[in-house]
Amino acid sequence: MLVENYSLLHRNTFGIDVNTRYFFEYNTVEELQCFLQCSVALENELLHIGGGSNLLFLSDFKGVILHSKIKGITCVKEDDEFAYLRVGAGEVWDDFVQYAVEKGLGGVENLSFIPGEVGAAPVQNIGAYGVEAKDVIYQVETIEIKTSKHKTFLAAECDFGYRNSIFKKSLKGQFIVTYVTFCLRKSPIFNTEYSSLREKIASLGNVSLSAVREIVIEIRREKLPNPKEIGSAGSFFMNPVVEKTLASKLKEMYPAMPMHKVNEGVKLSAGWLIEQTGWKGYTEGCVGVYEKQALVLINKGGGTGADVAKLSEKIQQSVYEKFNVKIKSEVIFV
Ligand code: EPU
Repeated sequence: MLVENYSLLHRNTFGIDVNTRYFFEYNTVEELQCFLQCSVALENELLHIGGGSNLLFLSDFKGVILHSKIKGITCVKEDDEFAYLRVGAGEVWDDFVQYAVEKGLGGVENLSFIPGEVGAAPVQNIGAYGVEAKDVIYQVETIEIKTSKHKTFLAAECDFGYRNSIFKKSLKGQFIVTYVTFCLRKSPIFNTEYSSLREKIASLGNVSLSAVREIVIEIRREKLPNPKEIGSAGSFFMNPVVEKTLASKLKEMYPAMPMHKVNEGVKLSAGWLIEQTGWKGYTEGCVGVYEKQALVLINKGGGTGADVAKLSEKIQQSVYEKFNVKIKSEVIFV
């Protein structure tokens, strides 16, 4: 279905009121392939969205916004240890997590209640509470935009990193995810090392998939705004990774600064840095910094993408001035 002059207000969780010249939604891979060969697709800029939970629209979009309604969760392979679930890109992420938990399959329970759709999960390697999508992705099926041909990427070919993948790097804008196959454990191995999770699980005594899911949902509800009530895109910034020398200097100056070692260096908490520069709970017109989690910028209604972008620049600037650390947005500016 192709629509002209379509409002994106309910297609981005920030609630930015902009239009797209064309909006195309499809139910099958064949419909997508067919569309990619038509003149509207060939002559215009294309942008594929999922739940619109990681985008900031700065103005009307002049090209075509595509959205997948490819649905379905099928068990395509199974052995003693694992079940492989092939999931349509247009499935709501949390519906899939709920399905897996109900079937007793482990691996995605820590990723409960993340907004967005399955097709976006490998693109930005979504993550929370010590688990990333890459830990459970077996393969990603795609259509190449230029040729309309199928190409399947095994997880090892996706070049996954922190909130990153080949689909955001060298192959940016070239492939559309149609199905993702996840490899889930029939006997779950729980990952409850993340401190806020560990404390709550400990008080429970007995761990189960549904208990982990419920606790994650509870933590997220406490810390993150409900996109149905307050516009936001979850974490607006990524946690910065700095060199060891800078990290030890910072530790001397700010002993309370949260840090943890990763392969590339030392990861800092952007939320902490922003809170320490005094931005938490700040508002400017219709936009602001969420009072319960400084990493989240919010639109209380009526704010523009430019308002949010302006605020984000001010925050980046003051974090840089105070800590000599550059924080980058996780959200994609369109
Ligand atoms: N912190 C503060 N002030 C704040 C927020 C955080 O001091 O306002 C400190 C906390 O005290 C803690 C540390 O920062 O020591 C980490 O905070 P938290 O556990 O809330 O996680 P986060 O690093 O702020 C990341 C992800 C979230 C994910 C959580 C849990 C990124 C950019 N964000 O946030 O992902 O849910 O960890 O794993 O990596 C998202 O990507 O949209 C998202 C919500």
